[in-house]
Amino acid sequence: MQKTLLVAGLALLLSTIGYIQNQQSVDEVSMVYEGFKQKFQKTYTSAEEAYRRGIFEQNYAKILAHNADPTQTYQTGVNQFTDMTQDEFVATYLTYTPPEGWQPSDEEVVQEGVAPNDSVDWRSSVRVKNQGSCGSCWAFSAVGAVEAFFKIKKGADHNLSEQQLVDCDKASNGCDGGYPDKAIKYIAANGSQTQAAYQYTGVKGTCKSATGSVKNSGVSTIAKSGLQAAIKDYPISVCVDASNWSNYKSGVFNNCNKNLNHAVMAVGYDASGNWIIKNSWATSWGEKGFMTLQAGDTCGVTQVAVKAI
Ligand SMILES: *[C@@H]1O[C@H](CO)[C@@H](O)[C@H](O)[C@H]1NC(C)=O
Ligand SMILES: *[C@@H]1O[C@H](CO)[C@@H](O)[C@H](O)[C@H]1NC(C)=O
Ligand SMILES: *[C@@H]1O[C@H](CO)[C@@H](O)[C@H](O)[C@H]1NC(C)=O
Ligand SMILES: *[C@@H]1O[C@H](CO)[C@@H](O)[C@H](O)[C@H]1NC(C)=O
Repeated sequence: MQKTLLVAGLALLLSTIGYIQNQQSVDEVSMVYEGFKQKFQKTYTSAEEAYRRGIFEQNYAKILAHNADPTQTYQTGVNQFTDMTQDEFVATYLTYTPPEGWQPSDEEVVQEGVAPNDSVDWRSSVRVKNQGSCGSCWAFSAVGAVEAFFKIKKGADHNLSEQQLVDCDKASNGCDGGYPDKAIKYIAANGSQTQAAYQYTGVKGTCKSATGSVKNSGVSTIAKSGLQAAIKDYPISVCVDASNWSNYKSGVFNNCNKNLNHAVMAVGYDASGNWIIKNSWATSWGEKGFMTLQAGDTCGVTQVAVKAI
């Protein structure tokens, strides 16, 4: 009799604990979701709410599972992309396409012209910006390269206009992707407006001013084996496969192929040769807008690199 009661009591206790734990995790996800909506000012129609919440919950479960895996070298987290499907993320943000005929190369190259365990970090000399939901990574990469050239080589701190390139540079396709090298050439030939004079809207509009007063002299291609040495001088425009970057939070990222689809900046490297990358997805993404990318040709980072001169 006593034994039966004890067993029944124990079963009740266990199911109560299970119930409390489930309740807690449901409440916790709700809290994280509400916090996410508030932080990123997400407003959905009532028809969309359940759909977005469903995607958020799936992505959040992936984030927790990834972070619980001790074999991972990087951590993931909630950011402005957590309510998007992978297909939406790729279609909106990963708009870069390599030049016609370009093929990814699997060959790993050794970086030349730098001492072992050397490191450089230009993070405090560059601006993290936000391209919004416009596929203008190419313009942010180009403007970043020109700004870094002026700041570090010429001692001139310019905050330049990506929107001018989105609207006026006919060699690229506005919010549907484009080419950092051609955009740097555009600035060299026609000049850049300041960001204050030609502000970012995140949609392609008519060209309001094709020329500007800030002009570099041209663009220069960086060899695969020369990326580290080039970064030692000043930050470089690079292209990467960012297919798995949406939920990156911190640590050394390495989970990628080499199908280049995004343009960013390489702004340093650590003593182990890991790259410091500047993205254009605001400071809410990654390490305050930056990423540590594993040394070598990770995500194809050494393959299409240029600098402003
Ligand atoms: C400079 O601007 C003109 C007029 O918009 C354009 O035709 C030309 O292609 C631009 N130069 C470069 C190098 O993009
Ligand atoms: C660049 O300039 C614009 C316009 O003045 C300003 O709103 C923005 O905050 C600046 N961006 C950065 C990252 O400094
Ligand atoms: C994304 O990550 C998965 C593993 O999580 C990997 O198998 C895949 O190759 C990666 N995809 C790309 C395009 O980098
Ligand atoms: C120094 O460089 C070697 C070879 O690249 C690397 O294996 C090692 O981890 C580096 N040491 C430090 C302290 O980063």
